[in-house]
Amino acid sequence: MTCLYSPSQNQRGSTMQSIRYFSSDPVPLEMHKARTVQKLNLAPIEDRKAAIEGAGGNTFLLRNKDIFLDMLSDSGVNAMSDLQVAAMARADDSYAGSESFFRMAEAVENMFGTRYLLPAHQGRAAEHILAQAFVKPKPDSTAIMNYHFTTTKALITFLGGKVEEIVIPEGLKVNSDHPFKGDMDLEKLAELTAEIGPENISFVRIEAGTNLIGGQPVSLGCLRAVSEFCHNHGLLFVFDASLLSDNLYFMAVRDPLCAGRELVDITQEIGQLADIIYFSARKLGCARGGAITTNRFDLYDQMREFVPLFEGFLTYGGMSVREIEAIAVGLNEALDFEVINQTPIFVAEFSRQLQARGIPVVTPPGGLGLHLDAKAFLPHLSQDRYPAGALAAAVFVAAGARGMERGTMSEQREPDGSERFAEMELLRLAIPKRVYTLSHITYVVDRLAWLWENRDLVGGLRYVEEPEVLRFFFGRLESDSDWMDRLVAAFRRDFGGSL
Ligand code: F0G
Repeated sequence: MTCLYSPSQNQRGSTMQSIRYFSSDPVPLEMHKARTVQKLNLAPIEDRKAAIEGAGGNTFLLRNKDIFLDMLSDSGVNAMSDLQVAAMARADDSYAGSESFFRMAEAVENMFGTRYLLPAHQGRAAEHILAQAFVKPKPDSTAIMNYHFTTTKALITFLGGKVEEIVIPEGLKVNSDHPFKGDMDLEKLAELTAEIGPENISFVRIEAGTNLIGGQPVSLGCLRAVSEFCHNHGLLFVFDASLLSDNLYFMAVRDPLCAGRELVDITQEIGQLADIIYFSARKLGCARGGAITTNRFDLYDQMREFVPLFEGFLTYGGMSVREIEAIAVGLNEALDFEVINQTPIFVAEFSRQLQARGIPVVTPPGGLGLHLDAKAFLPHLSQDRYPAGALAAAVFVAAGARGMERGTMSEQREPDGSERFAEMELLRLAIPKRVYTLSHITYVVDRLAWLWENRDLVGGLRYVEEPEVLRFFFGRLESDSDWMDRLVAAFRRDFGGSL
């Protein structure tokens, strides 16, 4: 008997990496299709300017209805798979003991080999619990990390701790060919440990896919070395896996220590190297939530009490059980190479198209999104005029695309009130997973090419309302001249009645 569809045909894995083209250059190829879509609207440039002015020059304060392409973040806005949506229907509602939680715990154990799971409502909630448990409010309490993330640092300093960042020098170079710019400088780790004393180090934290330096990955060799150092010196090794899926892709394609290995084999090794792993499931797991996981009961026990105190009972931690189900499936899917390759290949293509036009970007391209180098894009703006924030506003006006400032605006002032100038002034155009297509990217490249030609028109911003903590979220700024009007006039001159 012949079968119309043979099971083996259905189960055969996709092989995007090995598809060759006959008549064109390779392009990133989506190995999924869209089945639910959301209509977009591109408002005229005058309305875009009014919207960003109404938002205090801050892209965080824009309303979605005014945005064409939302590239603010990939956080909580990645497209879910059919299997994730289906899993949500079997959510097991219960204050305590929900089966949904145990399915998520199983997925985490499958990924990292870790036995204990503490749920939290998102990544920073996990960071809050870590900071409550391990940051001591004494002058020398220090968390050492490859690089900080905004919420991580804010929570540690809020609870009286300090942060030291020791990414390798290549990590802070906007342009480099180092494949793992997020690696930690191991010599500095030894020096700092000797200087501060292990007893004053709350933990050593490595962030996968190092966000603020352009989504740059960490190598397995670095994780092994940091783990060994921490264990020889009685230090706690914490791994932020929020951006692990991009990092895992780069490990698979760039790291000789990972060549030919199954992704799950790599994540299981990471699970053995770190004492504690936490993540934002708004990124890893493509849903909305977060968690901390460990194999050590003593650490689990030290953190556990904070979950019901700040989040919710131990089997939901502030998350909806529907999201917990989606995370469980999303974590399994993050072990599929054809799923995790999507963002990095789109970022690489975005970067390639911009570099071909001479537009300054972070190289090598990382994960998460495209990172424009605002210092080089707007060299006439000093850092106290927030070049990355000004570029974010200008890109919104020119393209209706919303990016995120990742520069001085995102820093906290020094305790004496002086500005802390960021090491890099970046504008991130995030690529939420599976949401945008290549033609969206091509459109943004076109508008960026125009803006690059007209970059002299872009002026600075100044705060008119500046919150003390995480000021970039809801601070309000104004243009320091009439530059937005001049940008709109130039657009109308060049594009006529075009949107
Ligand atoms: N760690 C990293 C590396 C992150 O990128 C984020 C969030 C967090 C922790 C905090 O997680 O948002 O769930 O509380 N990054 C988002 C972004 C906000 O847009 O890059 P969260």
